[in-house]
Amino acid sequence: MKRNIVLLLLSILTCNAFAQNIIPKPVEIESLAGVFKITKATTIGAGDEESRKIAAMLAAKLKNAAGFAPAINKTGAIQFSINTTPNNKIGNEGYTLLAHSTGVKIAANKPAGLFYGLQSLLQLLPKEIESKTVVKNVRWTIPGVKITDYPRFGWRGLMLDVSRHFFPKEDVKRYIDDMVRYKFNTLHWHLTDDNGWRIEIKSLPKLTEVGAWRVERAGRFGDRKEPQEGEPATYGGFYTQDDIREIIKYAADRGVTILPEVDVPGHSMAALAAYPELSCSKNPKTKVNPGTNFAEWYGDGKFRMFIDNTLNPSDEKVYDFLDKVFTEMAALFPNKYIHVGGDECYKGFWEKDPGCQALMKKMGMTHVEELQGYFMKRVEKILNAQGKQLLGWDEILEGGISPTATVMSWRGVKGGIEAAKMKHNVVMTPTTFAYLDYMQGDASIEPPIYASLRLSKTYSFEPVPDEVDAKYILGGQGNLWTEQIPTIRYAEYMTYPRAWALSDIYWSAKGSKDWANFTKRMEAHFDRADVAEMGYSKAVYDAIVNASIKDGKLMVELASEMPEIDIYYTTDDTMPDNFSKKYTEPIEIADAQVTLRIVTYKKKTAIGHLITLKREDLLKRAGK
Ligand code: ACM
Repeated sequence: MKRNIVLLLLSILTCNAFAQNIIPKPVEIESLAGVFKITKATTIGAGDEESRKIAAMLAAKLKNAAGFAPAINKTGAIQFSINTTPNNKIGNEGYTLLAHSTGVKIAANKPAGLFYGLQSLLQLLPKEIESKTVVKNVRWTIPGVKITDYPRFGWRGLMLDVSRHFFPKEDVKRYIDDMVRYKFNTLHWHLTDDNGWRIEIKSLPKLTEVGAWRVERAGRFGDRKEPQEGEPATYGGFYTQDDIREIIKYAADRGVTILPEVDVPGHSMAALAAYPELSCSKNPKTKVNPGTNFAEWYGDGKFRMFIDNTLNPSDEKVYDFLDKVFTEMAALFPNKYIHVGGDECYKGFWEKDPGCQALMKKMGMTHVEELQGYFMKRVEKILNAQGKQLLGWDEILEGGISPTATVMSWRGVKGGIEAAKMKHNVVMTPTTFAYLDYMQGDASIEPPIYASLRLSKTYSFEPVPDEVDAKYILGGQGNLWTEQIPTIRYAEYMTYPRAWALSDIYWSAKGSKDWANFTKRMEAHFDRADVAEMGYSKAVYDAIVNASIKDGKLMVELASEMPEIDIYYTTDDTMPDNFSKKYTEPIEIADAQVTLRIVTYKKKTAIGHLITLKREDLLKRAGK
């Protein structure tokens, strides 16, 4: 009997510990005694239309995972309600959640808040709630808890690049399903680039007839073979306007607004494959690029394009074209912003173009950069005529911008600081913390890309730099460029867990960061993601390997981002395990044909990937 009481108490305690695993971390959360158990007899209460929609989402989750859907009445044991007197503390997206042994109450000022309350409620239920099929023998309990929660920032986004690889609409919906679990509210949809134009524009049919398709190529992006004369372009796809309306509605039903991006005047090779007359080069052989080496990068934002991928700012036909594009987009997307790109626009073809030179002379411009400022001001007029506001990458600052433009800071935070000081609104998406295409673990085992960004670095991000007025920082995003990402499963692998860190950063209270606490919650979400069949990376468990030369010797230091990890290694061509040498101090690599093999363990369980580095690889890392 005594043992049973102890077990019961233990189960209540561990159950209530679940309450502390919510991502993003709630602003205020207090564990209460007791649990509420959902059974077939449980009813859900929803007194109005909006609450009923949210209640139906909970019932549908239970139907899938538990095999029963509670009835939805006006009042019920799990009650969703919109506050009749607004709670001033929680704003439009906040919610309160009170769970105890006899019931659960979720209240919010607006439907978005109720939806986020539901996300927290789902995270309080056992992980099996994420199952697509019925799971037997689960106690569907919700731990006693009192939560008051609201976001730090109104803009909490993820960017999905659907140009470099096309993701069909079911994939986009899945990306939305994933992000809303973590209270992201903006999907930045990068719809056009050199490698594919993905949005149907009815008045410009060639954009998708030609621009949405490229030749199929294996191999690394940036190293692929040029399209050959007459080779059919069969790889790609696009969204019809009906598809787009369907996705906008799907997103809106889940509190997500879509920020569409058409990237101009650079990054426009797919558009130019369809309408080559819109560039300075007017090359009729322009093709949608399959990932060839078409640019040379010199670092520090300097580069040269071998192929013209830029619209001609001196040609009125370009503005007629953009007027058509943005007018159709404005009619489709309810978001007040349209993202017009503006990044990495190579000006070399403009410099040599007589039309551009004549325009510069006429306008009294002394530098070719000013042509981009001119172009963006013309684009902004087009958007404003459609009731939309311009948003662009931080390069738009360089040519001079209108006071109403919003800036997305990507080349670090400096563009954001400069823009905020000029009183522009800013969305923070710096490469240094928020680029989800970068490798998250050791370069020897991660699919290769040119830069790295570990989870702990992402988690250290503070979106409001000291020197700016916080009111200009709307929030931030994680950006997923997909040059090397061909499937939605792999898009998830690259997005999570770094987007869990970003979800804490953009939602949770400033000053609430705690790496050990975050990683504990992350591990609970690894288990939940497994049940949800959602991809994610466990690179955070892998060893961090640094090599250097000290006193003429090749030395290796190993470290782990995760607490409670033991690192074992061999240098004798045996496979390492937890009976090999345990790493405690820098390793000297002998001047011989030595291979370093490294594994990680958590409490005697192998947990990370095997990392294998030959002496010559280590020498390269040490800069030799
Ligand atoms: C960018 O990463 N070119 C915005």
